[in-house]
Amino acid sequence: MKTYEKLLQENKAWATGKLAADPEYFDRLAHLQTPEFLWIGCSDSRVPANEITGTQPGEIFVHRNIANMVVNTDANMLSVLEYAVNHLKVKHVIVCGHYGCGGIKAAMSNHDHKQVLNMWLRNIKDVYRLHRQELEAIHDFEQRADRLCELNVKEQVMDLAKTSIVQRAWKHEQRPDLHGWVYGLKDGLIKPIFEMKAETHIDPLYEFDDL
Ligand code: CO
Repeated sequence: MKTYEKLLQENKAWATGKLAADPEYFDRLAHLQTPEFLWIGCSDSRVPANEITGTQPGEIFVHRNIANMVVNTDANMLSVLEYAVNHLKVKHVIVCGHYGCGGIKAAMSNHDHKQVLNMWLRNIKDVYRLHRQELEAIHDFEQRADRLCELNVKEQVMDLAKTSIVQRAWKHEQRPDLHGWVYGLKDGLIKPIFEMKAETHIDPLYEFDDL
């Protein structure tokens, strides 16, 4: 059997198991999607949103990319954010990074990762530059990378708050709260790093006054 065929076989077993436990399971899910959370996480295969939070299909709306970035020209991420906030009416947006992130480490190197990847990693280098003094006081590379994971998550949460999507929902519906978390590959635990409650005031430079 080919490796990908195993996935299809496992899928059949999973669907059968779900139906056996709850005959209405798929009927219910097919007709209703009301997740309370939007998750913006890293594409890393070791950080599956549902599994590490003990949630089921239907509970978390998910966007993943390399190093869980909120890039304000990324139509993919912005579409997901727009849909989650304005149509699904999520109450919380979670940016979840993880220690040992390959994207973070790649951005700390001077290696040419070729265009497109260079382009993406540039966004992380910009975060590094903002926190250079703190980061360069940490001499151990792994520890410095882990601190950058935390600072990066914080910056991405602040970037969410700079969008008119979030600011409009804050003003008119007092949601969503924004959360920055970092997951530990070594112990499986999520560490909350940073939080912005709905209606927090940010740098006035980024605040829209006519939403
Ligand atoms: Co990663």
